Amino acid sequence: MIQHWNRYTRDDHEVWEILFTRQLASLQDKACHEYLDCMNRSALKAGEVPDFSVLSPHLRAATSWEVEVVKGIIPVTDFMELLASRRFCSSTWLRQRHQLDYLEEPDMFHDIFGHIPLFYHEEYADFACRFGQLGLRWKHDATALALLERLYWFTIEFGLIREAGGVRIYGAGLLSSFGETNYVMSNAQVKRHEFSVRAVLSMPFRNDAIQTDYFVLESWPQLWECLAETEAFLQDVAAGKIARESLRLHEQKGSVEMAAPEAEIAG
Ligand SMILES: [Fe+2]
Repeated sequence: MIQHWNRYTRDDHEVWEILFTRQLASLQDKACHEYLDCMNRSALKAGEVPDFSVLSPHLRAATSWEVEVVKGIIPVTDFMELLASRRFCSSTWLRQRHQLDYLEEPDMFHDIFGHIPLFYHEEYADFACRFGQLGLRWKHDATALALLERLYWFTIEFGLIREAGGVRIYGAGLLSSFGETNYVMSNAQVKRHEFSVRAVLSMPFRNDAIQTDYFVLESWPQLWECLAETEAFLQDVAAGKIARESLRLHEQKGSVEMAAPEAEIAG
């Protein structure tokens, strides 16, 4: 699968510029400083839709991660396989001008603007790779995979982290959404929980409703270090030491969106 960058229209490039400029301005006092620093180090820019033939080699040279184009939503285990081999999958379709603020499925702006910069951050990138390796070790256990999706959801997609200036965003689902960025930083309904493996793995998520619960890391090492505790938790569940009923598995709705379907690009 390749991107076919020359098929993007002038309108696509303008939509990217509107999204990029608006969101980066909004994130200046909301995103964690590592994200903003990494954005500066990346090959991403406002003026045009990113060309993966430039973006991916730039990322690989800096961190050994690559962008992998996928068609359609891929199985969780395939996604784990990609992460374990330091590849992050992206769609290539971009929302249209009338969809700036609402999407049912993640597009390239989410996959690239939201996710890619933090792969320049070593501890974050190591976490993602080790998360994938952990997923592969548990790929035959559906309960374990559902719990690992929670960890991914409440960190890589919707994670918050405490910095000297206050709580900041590092989750891509927030970083790429103008509305949700503002919502999570200012809405009184938002519940910010202290990050703990037990709390995260016991929290069902829904991908069809606005998020109300978020988890706040105290530091990046906490993210990396949580994987051993996560695996111990999975072992306890498998051994029956943690009651499955306590995990509220039936309340989980949908799966982590591993990638969005690739739409036909006009041109
Ligand atoms: Fe995502």
